[in-house]
Amino acid sequence: MAMSQDLKSLPPVTAAEYVSAIAQHVSSVCVITTELDGERFGLTATAVSSVCAEPPRLLVCVNKSGLTHDKIVRAGKFCVNVLTEAQDTVAMVFAGMGGKDVDRFATGDWMTLETGAPALQGAAAVFDCVLGEVCAQSTHSVLFGDVVATAHVSGRDTLLYGARRFRQLRKVFSAPDGINEYL
Ligand SMILES: Cc1cc2nc3c(=O)[nH]c(=O)nc-3n(C[C@H](O)[C@H](O)[C@H](O)COP(=O)(O)O)c2cc1C
Repeated sequence: MAMSQDLKSLPPVTAAEYVSAIAQHVSSVCVITTELDGERFGLTATAVSSVCAEPPRLLVCVNKSGLTHDKIVRAGKFCVNVLTEAQDTVAMVFAGMGGKDVDRFATGDWMTLETGAPALQGAAAVFDCVLGEVCAQSTHSVLFGDVVATAHVSGRDTLLYGARRFRQLRKVFSAPDGINEYL
């Protein structure tokens, strides 16, 4: 094991090694949307996390080389739509699986909340955000969002993705005492 002064000189694992391991990390599937000059943009993303509740803030990691990244940065707003299991087609279309020239917003029913970024009707949850800090991280940007409106539908399972497959949340078991304090 390296001494603490040597830690910075440890070489990183290969990208392939990292990707194989991170594929085991199961996440809910989201569609990140924005609106700029009357045009709508969006992509499927699993790299989404809550940051804090006071102030209400989350983050999404978006590839800089995609079309939607710069639109979000220019628009200064985005909406995180957490998909239900019934919205798997939306996930695939916004991942680009329907082809490059397809109108992604033809799939699903869309509305707006406060910012004007597209919000998916019937989504498990919607977080309408004003873009905060943008943190460049190699190929991606970490985009922080301050939440100005939410919507949610309870009782519908969220769509999951892990080990390179879309998955369903099938098993629910009772939590040990105390775990709800985290929520
Ligand atoms: C399950 C899944 C999760 C994804 N997660 C992300 C993500 O977190 N961030 C990202 O930038 N791209 C992610 N992608 C890839 C984008 O959805 C895809 O490249 C999309 O076509 C980008 O659209 P754009 O060019 O309009 O930005 C994911 C794709 C899939 C299928």
